[in-house]
Amino acid sequence: MMIIDGLKKTIDESLEQYFAGKGSYNKMIYEAMHYSLSVGGKRIRPILLLLCYQLYKDNYIEVLEPACALEMIHTYSLIHDDLPSMDNDDLRRGKPTCHKVYGEALAVLAGDGLLNEAANLLINYSMKRGTLGLNAAKIILEASSVEGMIGGQVVDILSENKRIELEQLEYMHSRKTGALIKAAIKAGAVIADAPEEDLKVLDSFGDKLGMAFQIKDDILDVVGDTSVLGKMVNSDAQNNKTTYVTVYGLEECKSICSSLTEECMELLKGLSADTSHLQELTNYLLMREY
Ligand code: IPE
Ligand code: IPE
Ligand code: MG
Ligand code: MG
Ligand code: MG
Repeated sequence: MMIIDGLKKTIDESLEQYFAGKGSYNKMIYEAMHYSLSVGGKRIRPILLLLCYQLYKDNYIEVLEPACALEMIHTYSLIHDDLPSMDNDDLRRGKPTCHKVYGEALAVLAGDGLLNEAANLLINYSMKRGTLGLNAAKIILEASSVEGMIGGQVVDILSENKRIELEQLEYMHSRKTGALIKAAIKAGAVIADAPEEDLKVLDSFGDKLGMAFQIKDDILDVVGDTSVLGKMVNSDAQNNKTTYVTVYGLEECKSICSSLTEECMELLKGLSADTSHLQELTNYLLMREY
C-alpha cells in the first residue's frame, strides 16, 4: 500500500491547509468544516480519482483539486447523514460528529459550505484546465445530485421502518454511495483523456466497486468494532434501516461482496493500462475493518 499511503498523505496535506487562516465573523464555520474534514477519513474517493488519472498520466498533482473537491462533497454528505433528523449518529471518524461539537445549525451550514466550496474548486479548475476539467466537474456534480447521492439518501430515509423491493435497495446503494465512487473513477480517467473502451470498462468497475463498498459498510455496521470503525455499530438496526444485511443476511452479503470484488479484478485486467495499484485498493476495500 506504499503508493496509496503516499497519495493519502498528499490529499490530507492539501485538505489540511485549505481553510487555514480563512474567515472573520464567520470563522466558526471554517472551524466546523475543517473539523469534519481533518484526520480520520480513508480518502477512498480522492485516492481513486488520483489512481485512475495515474493509469494514463504521470503527474497526479495535476488532479489534486478535483480530488479534494470530491472529498469535500463526501464529507458534507457525512455531516448531514449524521444529523439527528437523519441517522442521528454521535461518532464519526473516531470523533464526536460535527453537530455534537458545533450544534445542528452550524453543522447544516458546514455541510452546505463544503458542497459550495467543492463547486468553486471545480469551476476554477475547469477554467484552468478547459474541456477535460469541465467534463470531470460535470461527472462529479451530477453524481452528487438528486439523481445521484442525494437521491439515494432520500430513498434511505424514506425506507426506514419499511420493507423495500430489491430494485429499490439497489437504487439506494448505487446512488447514495455508488455514485460518488464511480464519479471518482470516471473523473480521474476523463481528465487523463483515457481511451473510450477503457472508460466503458471503468464504468462497470465503478458500479461494482460502489456496490461492494456499501454492502461492506452495511456488514461493518453489524460486525464492526466501534474503536476501529470510528463510528457507532448497530446504527442501522437502531434506525430500522433496510440494508443488504437485513435483506440477504450476513453470510450471503459477504459472498456477494467477494463476488463483486472478483468481478472488479477481472474488469481491471481488461484495461490497457497497468492496474496493479487499483487492484491492491480493490482488495483492500473488501478486507477492510473500517
Ligand atoms: C462512509 O464512507 C459512508 C458511506 C458512503 C458508506 P467511508 O467509509 O468512505 O468514510 P470515511 O471517508 O473513510 O470516513
Ligand atoms: C451513507 O450511508 C451514505 C452517505 C453519507 C451518502 P450510511 O448512513 O450507511 O453511512 P455511515 O454508515 O453512516 O457512514
Ligand atoms: Mg445514512
Ligand atoms: Mg449513517
Ligand atoms: Mg452505514
